[in-house]
Amino acid sequence: MIDGFLFYTSILKKAFRQHAQEISYFLRAKKRYIRDGYLKNNPALFLRKKTHHLERCLFAPHLYSSDTAENAAKEIEKILTEGKELPLEQRKWAQKILQEYKTGIRQNTSVFCPMLINNTARKQPQVTAENLMSLIRQRRSRRIFIDTPLTDSEKTAICQAAQYAPSSCNRQTLYLIFVEERELKDFIASTIPGGHQFFAQAPCILLLLSDAGDFRYPEDRMVPFAEGAAAVQNIYLLCETMGLGCCWGSYTSFGSVDREKEVRNRLKIPDTHLIVASLAIGKSNQFVCEIPRDLPENRFGNNCYGNK
Ligand SMILES: Cc1cc2nc3c(=O)[nH]c(=O)nc-3n(C[C@H](O)[C@H](O)[C@H](O)COP(=O)(O)O)c2cc1C
Repeated sequence: MIDGFLFYTSILKKAFRQHAQEISYFLRAKKRYIRDGYLKNNPALFLRKKTHHLERCLFAPHLYSSDTAENAAKEIEKILTEGKELPLEQRKWAQKILQEYKTGIRQNTSVFCPMLINNTARKQPQVTAENLMSLIRQRRSRRIFIDTPLTDSEKTAICQAAQYAPSSCNRQTLYLIFVEERELKDFIASTIPGGHQFFAQAPCILLLLSDAGDFRYPEDRMVPFAEGAAAVQNIYLLCETMGLGCCWGSYTSFGSVDREKEVRNRLKIPDTHLIVASLAIGKSNQFVCEIPRDLPENRFGNNCYGNK
């Protein structure tokens, strides 16, 4: 009875501490967003984020205060009138959303996506479904590496693979850190609970970060991790095609980074950014056996759970 009580209180204490820390990331990030005029030195990105913001206010007005929408509208108007160099399509989209906000009238509601150009057929992909499925099935978590550093072009490709992953409201909040320096890598490996045995031997440990300032709290608190996961899968697949291998290590600012404060200090991670994933990456010839999956018909239902 006493043991049970201690067990539950220790879980509650841990959860409480963890939630307090989690909230502090989001609050700091919001504060910086509001106070510092964040991203004003990158008007194209700032405009995109603000336009998404206003668009969300239009789609779901019950979720936002009228001040939020009004402030976003003012920021957009200011950037548009300052005449900074901005991509034309983006400028048009911002003007359209601003107009809708001001008039209260939705224009051309058949166009949901701002980047969607009506009446233009999409290009056929060059990769066939068979090729893609074969790559998806061949992908493995690889934990043995050849001691060769990543090249700059490999790093660029990995970064782009992450950037081209889907992101909620097209927020594109991910940042990457390639950790390669020996001593630093040993230290980071020692803070990844599932990576102690092999992360230090990889030529590179990649950390993915997400800027918490873009997300609503608490509604969106899991979204940075979902976006990190989408990027990780892109990186896994790309690595398979480049003779590289990688393995995911559970590593999130929601409690699974050991000595997170020290990690943040040593890597100079802003206290507004969440750590969302880690990967060991490097050249790898390791054969990893096929891990069978359940039959698809056991795993999907039509219009209800299961297939009975
Ligand atoms: C969220 C997540 C966290 C993971 N964390 C670890 C980890 O800490 N250490 C590890 O060796 N593998 C980790 N993995 C890799 C899994 O062990 C691996 O995906 C699984 O065994 C299936 O093997 P496969 O990737 O080759 O298909 C993780 C995978 C996911 C999706």
